[in-house]
Amino acid sequence: MKKTKTISMLAVALLAMVFVQSCKDDEEDPEPTVNEFVADDASFAGWDSWDLIDTKEGEDPSLAGAHAGNDSTSIRKIYVKDAQKPVDGMYPVGTLVVKHMKSDGMEMITAMAKRGNGFDPSNNDWEYFVIMADGKIVVDNGTVMRGSTGLMNGMCVGCHSKATTDYIFTN
Ligand code: HEC
Repeated sequence: MKKTKTISMLAVALLAMVFVQSCKDDEEDPEPTVNEFVADDASFAGWDSWDLIDTKEGEDPSLAGAHAGNDSTSIRKIYVKDAQKPVDGMYPVGTLVVKHMKSDGMEMITAMAKRGNGFDPSNNDWEYFVIMADGKIVVDNGTVMRGSTGLMNGMCVGCHSKATTDYIFTN
């Protein structure tokens, strides 16, 4: 008898806890799901050990004068972190892509990060970067070399908008 009572009291107590908990859930507004990836220096560290998805050599008309060193000596390597691929034509938030370009007397490392969260919705929310070999984002005369339409007068995003899959040429 005593044992049964203890058990039923326990059950009541448990039920009360569940009730309080569910009331609490009802009161709270659901947390907004923010899906944004803001890259920093650490994000690009070790880019040369990511998946090398393509190596291109020589001139390419679609490069025009951009990415510099668009000549017969240029070697361009494209790396993607964690082998990210487009899903229904769009890369997931957090996708990181690096392009290493080397030609006679010139080297440049550019990068893109899928930032998401309405960073630049009319251009699929990519952020563009110029980085150093150690992955740090270049600071040129106090200007941090990152952005979309705001970086180099929108030069990067302007040309990448012509790529067939989500602003990325190399799929
Ligand atoms: C005039 C066109 C043009 C401009 C401007 C341009 N890119 Fe590119 N970019 C390309 C092409 C074409 C490729 C494909 C790889 C190749 O042929 O070298 C590419 C490749 C890349 C890649 C590898 C992913 C991909 O799309 O294949 C990154 C990262 C990148 N560019 C970043 C940048 C950044 C950052 C800037 C601005 C500083 C920039 N690009 C400016 C044309 C351009």
